[in-house]
Amino acid sequence: MTATLTPVHPVGARPTAVTALPGPPRPRPLGRAPTVAVRELGPTDADVLDAVFTGLSDHSRYLRFHGATPRLTGPVRRKLTAVDGRRHLAVAAFAPTGEPVGIARLIWLGLRDAELAVEVVDAWQGRGVGRRLLHAIAARGREEGYARLVAVVLAENTAMQALLASVLPIVAVETDAHEITLTADLRPALAGAA
Ligand SMILES: CC(C)(COP(=O)(O)OP(=O)(O)OC[C@H]1O[C@@H](n2cnc3c(N)ncnc32)[C@H](O)[C@@H]1OP(=O)(O)O)[C@@H](O)C(=O)NCCC(=O)NCCS
Repeated sequence: MTATLTPVHPVGARPTAVTALPGPPRPRPLGRAPTVAVRELGPTDADVLDAVFTGLSDHSRYLRFHGATPRLTGPVRRKLTAVDGRRHLAVAAFAPTGEPVGIARLIWLGLRDAELAVEVVDAWQGRGVGRRLLHAIAARGREEGYARLVAVVLAENTAMQALLASVLPIVAVETDAHEITLTADLRPALAGAA
């Protein structure tokens, strides 16, 4: 995602409601998922990235990368596998078969802010995997001292907006023609109240 992320309101800014965001909900046909295993990814986990990307429909890739993305280019793939456990964190969810079904990641933006991205393969969407991944990456972000997560989401992506707002308190919302930048507070006291 390449959106401009400034200015962002300071931590402690008055929370902004995001319950009335526009756009129709997408179909949610499936029930809760069986238990998935979640683990942190390392730089040798490119196969996990590839498997999750393969499981995304064209529409999900569009929502995730904000444009038609038929394949991961070399530079993007290298960037997404360059996790270091500090400035670039990623966790993945695995089905009971061991198949990777989703990834959440944080990439350092400066100070104590990190950009958030989440993707769940289409066959597993709507079954609680995104929520599980978001809780896991938020916990890792807290451990690493991050205070805020910034998600740049297409305006039509009501699922991601609802997911983030249901897990963490949103302290800033910035809107332009096509994208909404949501800033969520990771501080434990606020997160506990979410
Ligand atoms: C957005 C995304 C990560 C959500 O993951 P998911 O596993 O499908 O979501 P979950 O099943 O964990 O749902 C958690 C919450 O998200 C929201 N949500 C999920 N899907 C939704 C939908 N289709 N419509 C509205 N809200 C939705 C709900 O608040 C839901 O809570 P609930 O089940 O208690 O109502 C997933 O749909 C996805 O990968 N989309 C394509 C890529 C993308 O958009 N990434 C975000 C860009 S950063």
